[in-house]
Amino acid sequence: MPDVTFVNSSGTASTVEVPDGETLMRAALKENIAGILGECGGACCCATCHVYLDDASISKVAPIRDMEEQMLGYVAAPRRDSSRLACQIIMAPTLEGLIVHLPPSQL
Ligand code: FES
Repeated sequence: MPDVTFVNSSGTASTVEVPDGETLMRAALKENIAGILGECGGACCCATCHVYLDDASISKVAPIRDMEEQMLGYVAAPRRDSSRLACQIIMAPTLEGLIVHLPPSQL
C-alpha cells in the first residue's frame, strides 16, 4: 500500500498507508486526518476535500477532469496551481510518497 503524508496548515505531518483504489479523501477520514471534511461523500459537489499537492506530487496524479475543475472554483481557501480535490485522487502504487498539504479551512 502506498504511503501518503498529510501536512496540516501548522506544518504537522502524518504519514499513513492507503490501500490501492481508495480515494485520498476516504483515506483521510478513516485515519482521522483533521482538515478534510468530505461533506458530499466523494460526489465531487462540496469542495470540502480541498488539498494542495507538493511540487513533486503534482505530476504523479491523474489530470483534473471537468467536474473537479468546476468545483475547485468553490474552495474556501485560496486556489493554487497545486489545488486538487482529495475525493478525485484514487490511490495507486505510482502514488507512493504522495505529500498533501491541507488548507487552514474547508468552510
Ligand atoms: Fe465533496 Fe470531494 S468530498 S468534493
